[in-house]
Amino acid sequence: MVRKTWAAAAIALGATAVLAQSDPIASRKALERANDEQHKIGTAMVTGQLPFDLDRARIVFATFLDVAGKAPHLFPENSKTGGDTSAAARIWDDPDGFRAAYVRFATDAKTAQDGIRDPATFRALFEGVTRHCGACHEIFRVLKT
Ligand code: HEC
Repeated sequence: MVRKTWAAAAIALGATAVLAQSDPIASRKALERANDEQHKIGTAMVTGQLPFDLDRARIVFATFLDVAGKAPHLFPENSKTGGDTSAAARIWDDPDGFRAAYVRFATDAKTAQDGIRDPATFRALFEGVTRHCGACHEIFRVLKT
């Protein structure tokens, strides 16, 4: 089950490279869904639903890092609407702030990737890095109810 999820994330990332030029909205959504898959795996390890595995834990942060490197380039001016996007107009009003939010996420993900030693360090690092998810969404996404 988890292995399948993992494979799906890898496929999503691969497909994104192809889609990126032609459909930036679908591409960035696929990247963010890869974030979500890894977030679920990380949460399962933190809560003990999945046994802690150092390599898997590193993949969680490596995926976040990969997404943070690619996603900021997928918000061209002509992609503000359509494609069922939840991107907020603020992304285009404050492009520097938006990019900086991805940089903060990437910086912490990189530090975390190198810092995992055991379940306890993973838990602390995971909690630190995933604070960026909500922090960015709060400002740069519009969630329909
Ligand atoms: C720096 C900003 C930023 C960070 C950090 C970030 N996201 Fe996102 N996320 C976005 C934006 C912007 C969208 C909206 C993309 C769109 O709909 O065009 C989004 C969309 C999503 C979606 C919806 C995808 C879809 O199919 O519509 C999920 C799920 C998601 N993010 C999960 C996460 C998780 C989990 C993390 C942290 C591990 C995270 N995101 C970190 C900016 C961010």
